[in-house]
Amino acid sequence: MSEHTHRPVPVLEAVAGIVPPRVVSNEDLPAHWDTNDVWVRRRTGIGTRHWVDEGTSTGDLALAAAEAVLAKSPAGDVDAVVVATSTPDHPMPGMAPVLATRLGLGGVAAFDVSAVCTGFVYGLATASGMITAGIARRVLLVAADVYSTLISPDDRGAGVVFGDGAGAVVLRAGESGEAGEVLGFDLGSDGAGHDLITVPGGGARGRAEPGRYGPADCHFRMSGREVFQHAVTRMTESSLAALKNVGWTTSEIDRVVAHQANARILSLVGQRLSISDDKVLGNISRVGNTGAASIPLALADAVARDEIHAGEKVLLTAFGGGFTWGSATLVWPEIV
Ligand code: COA
Repeated sequence: MSEHTHRPVPVLEAVAGIVPPRVVSNEDLPAHWDTNDVWVRRRTGIGTRHWVDEGTSTGDLALAAAEAVLAKSPAGDVDAVVVATSTPDHPMPGMAPVLATRLGLGGVAAFDVSAVCTGFVYGLATASGMITAGIARRVLLVAADVYSTLISPDDRGAGVVFGDGAGAVVLRAGESGEAGEVLGFDLGSDGAGHDLITVPGGGARGRAEPGRYGPADCHFRMSGREVFQHAVTRMTESSLAALKNVGWTTSEIDRVVAHQANARILSLVGQRLSISDDKVLGNISRVGNTGAASIPLALADAVARDEIHAGEKVLLTAFGGGFTWGSATLVWPEIV
């Protein structure tokens, strides 16, 4: 590309989020978990979460979120579909081609991104890169997870934290300086923490070493306390790196939307960044931790509640299994 060639920039056009209808309050949690509303609210900030009913899977939530966002943004021009999930309907194939077909989008580019709870930010970076490189002009990015199907029935630690949901955005090729422009990213990983958030069984390692894993190893496993510390440190550092990349100071930020991991994690990240609570948006008390879906779901809720406005400087930050982490900066668009 010559230096005179006009480079498109990624612009956020629409956002939508959905949760399944079944509300699970702290009182509704399984009795054998021997937990209670006070404990869960104090340790996590979560009051309710939504879990899918039998028969509903990630692909169904992804479809509903995609339809909701495309209702606000013309479907005809979508030329790529990216799905971020760590709870896919099947180990193979990826979810995005099936979703594109269910949406009637024809033979568009379609693939999945696997970065656990950082999946939306990694997906946003991937979609942005496709636009900047001229590979796509309008990308549908859907982040969907159904952790309720993956948690061990005996795991009250992770069990109280996770909810199901899906969020979606449309990114389009636009002009530099437009409201909605996605300006920059910081992405990182540390595989040394791979076994602190994991589903150890069900993959090629187990097939290569028959007998190594049993059925219980196909459930989600998290070392909550250790993950907590890493999440605070990495989201803080990554946020600062993303701000530095774009030349913003923390005091310039109007809104922060972080992965809704745990309310205590979010408040510590806000404190370390010296960003006041009123600028930190979220919906964890209502939906819990919805994995990759959590940032677009929180953004959709913020739009619905009129908490985020065109022209505001927005920081997104996430942390998840891998470990992975990532942050993005954008200027909020005029959104229907
Ligand atoms: N209800 C009541 N008691 C519970 C409980 C529950 N749901 N879960 C754990 N406990 C108990 C434990 O049995 C333990 O009791 P003990 O001290 O008598 O042994 C005590 O609480 C502390 O256990 P621990 O697992 O260390 O709890 P915690 O304070 O770390 O809270 C999490 C557990 C999962 C809520 C917390 O670690 C967390 O939110 N971590 C981060 C999770 C996260 O954000 N993950 C996603 C990142 S992408």
